[in-house]
Amino acid sequence: MLTDKRVGVLMGGTSAEREISLKSGAAIYSALKGLGYNAVDIDAGPDVCIALSREKIEIAFLALHGGHGENGSVQGMLEVLGIPYTGSGVLASALAMDKEASKKVFVYHNIPVPPFIILNRQSSSPSPFPSFNLPWVVKPATEGSSVGVSIVRDKAKFEEALEKAFSYSSRVILEKYIGGKEVHIGILNDRVLGGVEVRPSLEFYNYKAKYTPGLTEYILPPEINKGAYEKAKEAAFSAHVALGCKGATRMDLRIDTEDNPYVLEVNTIPGMTETSLLPKIASLAGFDFPSLIEEIIRGAVNEGQ
Ligand SMILES: Nc1ncnc2c1ncn2[C@@H]1O[C@H](COP(=O)(O)OP(=O)(O)O)[C@@H](O)[C@H]1O
Ligand SMILES: [Mg+2]
Repeated sequence: MLTDKRVGVLMGGTSAEREISLKSGAAIYSALKGLGYNAVDIDAGPDVCIALSREKIEIAFLALHGGHGENGSVQGMLEVLGIPYTGSGVLASALAMDKEASKKVFVYHNIPVPPFIILNRQSSSPSPFPSFNLPWVVKPATEGSSVGVSIVRDKAKFEEALEKAFSYSSRVILEKYIGGKEVHIGILNDRVLGGVEVRPSLEFYNYKAKYTPGLTEYILPPEINKGAYEKAKEAAFSAHVALGCKGATRMDLRIDTEDNPYVLEVNTIPGMTETSLLPKIASLAGFDFPSLIEEIIRGAVNEGQ
């Protein structure tokens, strides 16, 4: 019986998204307890290896956002320890956390992404201007939660945006701003669940709009025409497959005014509080929070066998 296994919910950790991870972890832990699992919560700090062995963990449920928990490092440690874990493997996690690497894979597979260039802090030549027109989006290659992201509408503001992004990562993505709408698509065990339209009242879906209740309106399902929705789901699923993702993922997309989707990024450990976007999308597809958690843990065990 799966419920007899000792399940460690790994949460917290050392990334900038620690606080959100603790909330995801608490929601997952209580759902597992409610389902009758032998669950224990583990704060995944530098001593996580000791905690896993002390608690005799047989399955790891990953509720870590950003940093080591989402970039393949924790996944690699669990591989070495022989402990099955939820979600994507080492390579898919590492590719998804690095926006330069994932974009290059998407381009290879003809998955639509906004036109972009990569800027390197170490480069001795002055930063090139792109061939596409303003507005631009400037973002660090390896952050999340919109940290370090700016929209540049005036060239005079470019240097400032660049400095901000470089303060978080040695590589920066400069991409074309895609007007229109923002839609996030949820995928569970290789099945597209559906999407949510995100309508922030601020300039864009920045950190404040993400985490301050009331600043963003969420529309389920998105208010876009059927053709645009289908194209967005198709692009999101191709992105999930191209990176080799597993379990639950959330894809962030823009849909332009001509209904063309553009994949912005892939989240391999999306927020998992009961009010987070992936659980909202899943509920529309018929999975209440506990059944979503159960599907994710089943995926982990199948992968591990
Ligand atoms: N090319 C773009 N066009 C329009 N808006 C964008 C673009 N890139 C990013 N954004 C805005 O910035 C937000 C954060 O960007 P994203 O690439 O998802 O990075 P993060 O990992 O920080 O969430 C998006 O949700 C969107 O609102
Ligand atoms: Mg995002």
